[in-house]
Amino acid sequence: MRLLLILLLSFGIAPAQDGPFSHKKHAPLKLACTYCHTTAEKEDRAGFPALATCRTCHPAIADRKIPAQRVYRVKDFVVFRHAAHSAQAACATCHGEVYTLDTISRAVRPTTMIECVDCHKSKQASVQCNLCHELGQ
Ligand code: HEC
Ligand code: HEC
Ligand code: HEC
Ligand code: HEC
Ligand code: HEC
Repeated sequence: MRLLLILLLSFGIAPAQDGPFSHKKHAPLKLACTYCHTTAEKEDRAGFPALATCRTCHPAIADRKIPAQRVYRVKDFVVFRHAAHSAQAACATCHGEVYTLDTISRAVRPTTMIECVDCHKSKQASVQCNLCHELGQ
């Protein structure tokens, strides 16, 4: 099914792709998050897809900046690593159900200190200040 879709798309049947990227419009494809955010389970950062990834399905898509804008970003004095959390929480726990969203908003799931600390307490993980804040900062 997915292969057929990709074949159709490569022959130019895809709609114009000039608009902003929408997770919701891609939901029917049921792609794993790591198809595009390839390092989200293995490295500190989740990362963003290269245009080459989009061109697998949209061969003629025009050059664009990815991401168009950043949404989730903690301040420099906070230590956060995706890899340390991939066995602890699903993406949706911190980012919401992005496949229901055209535009991702941090309001859906804030990444504030209280959110981090509440989960750490409930899972008996450390809440020592220097776990998340490097000493000397
Ligand atoms: C696995 C295939 C696949 C990949 C990879 C993919 N897309 Fe899509 N994309 C689709 C399909 C299928 C649709 C049509 C959805 C619809 O029309 O409802 C679509 C729709 C779109 C649309 C909306 C088009 C419209 O007119 O509504 C945009 C914009 C878009 N994609 C951009 C991107 C960007 C940017 C990337 C890379 C970050 C990307 N796509 C990666 C398959 C893909
Ligand atoms: C087809 C590729 C693709 C897939 C699959 C995909 N994403 Fe994304 N994601 C993107 C692109 C492209 C952006 C940047 C959007 C922009 O330019 O505004 C993004 C942005 C995000 C952001 C906002 C990041 C920030 O801080 O700016 C989050 C969070 C996110 N994705 C989570 C997910 C999750 C969770 C899944 C799986 C449920 C997922 N994504 C699946 C392509 C994808
Ligand atoms: C425990 C909470 C948590 C979980 C679980 C989580 N994230 Fe994140 N995510 C964050 C925080 C916090 C940031 C901001 C990180 C920063 O600024 O350094 C972030 C940033 C991002 C970004 C922006 C780019 C980047 O690498 O900083 C993307 C994309 C993203 N997450 C996707 C995902 C995906 C996909 C998953 C699931 C595989 C996931 N996240 C799981 C909390 C989480
Ligand atoms: C859904 C629950 C949950 C949320 C939300 C969460 N964490 Fe964690 N985090 C954990 C658990 C559980 C561990 C312990 C993991 C282990 O022992 O392997 C952990 C471990 C850590 C560690 C130590 C591992 C490492 O990376 O070296 C840091 C630092 C950390 N979290 C920072 C954060 C920050 C910052 C946030 C908020 C932006 C956050 N966490 C949100 C559950 C969570
Ligand atoms: C589990 C992770 C975690 C732990 C433990 C933690 N913090 Fe934080 N802290 C955060 C995050 C996330 C933020 C918000 C950063 C942002 O806004 O981007 C933050 C913000 C702060 C700020 C700035 C407040 C503001 O209004 O911007 C201070 C000060 C602070 N923390 C002190 C502490 C102290 C003191 C401790 C120990 C009692 C502590 N933190 C423990 C994650 C943590």
